[in-house]
Amino acid sequence: MRSFTSLTPPQDELIEVCGDSKCLIPVKADVIGNGRIGTYGIITGKPAYIAVVGNDEFAAGMAGERAVIELTRRGFATCWLGVTFNRQLVSQAIGLPEGTPLIAVIAVGYAAKHRSIVDGTMRLACGAFTRKNLRKLIVAGSPAADLSDAIEALRSAPSNHNCQPWRLAFNTNGNIDVYADPHDKSYLLDVGIAVSHFLLVAPEYKICENKSRYPGLKPIVTLCK
Ligand SMILES: Cc1cc2nc3c(=O)[nH]c(=O)nc-3n(C[C@H](O)[C@H](O)[C@H](O)COP(=O)(O)O)c2cc1C
Repeated sequence: MRSFTSLTPPQDELIEVCGDSKCLIPVKADVIGNGRIGTYGIITGKPAYIAVVGNDEFAAGMAGERAVIELTRRGFATCWLGVTFNRQLVSQAIGLPEGTPLIAVIAVGYAAKHRSIVDGTMRLACGAFTRKNLRKLIVAGSPAADLSDAIEALRSAPSNHNCQPWRLAFNTNGNIDVYADPHDKSYLLDVGIAVSHFLLVAPEYKICENKSRYPGLKPIVTLCK
């Protein structure tokens, strides 16, 4: 959701949701101003922002999306911004140390009753309404029936430009190799987001090293029990 009301969420709530994550830094309320962070009029209203930082994009995706899910549970609307935001303003506002990458920001606010025209156009432009069919995402094997909710949670995750770069190979031992289509520039961040959805529904899995290979795809992690 890119269309927010003019009521900015309390800073304390963002600080609480970010917890002690090293990847997440709430942007100070006094620099949010009049929509100067979400550029090109993409964001309307006055959301607050969380900066997503660090060298590990996969971990940052996981941490950011966990915060998004918790904020959604608390009734907030959110939007990840990897491109259309003012990097300089955010870097200054959070006092980002030299050499630490600013990966993205997450806008957090109260959903406006109606989407702005720019919001609607952006959704149309990136085909935000659709998600890839499972057949396109699974490159080997097939999931056990009891994993269908977790796989659906992963499949429906948001991604930059709705690229959905995640690909899955199901092994006979029950492990799931997760790969990424490297054509998506932010595939590590996006796959981190999707894996956080999976683990929320299937917490019995943990993240292991992906030692397998698949032509044309980048190995990211293996989900193992
Ligand atoms: C990592 C990431 C970066 C994104 N960057 C932008 C952005 O810069 N500008 C924007 O308007 N939307 C951005 N989005 C929103 C996506 O376009 C949107 O999540 C996707 O199209 C799916 O739409 P939905 O979230 O409405 O289901 C981003 C999403 C993610 C996950």
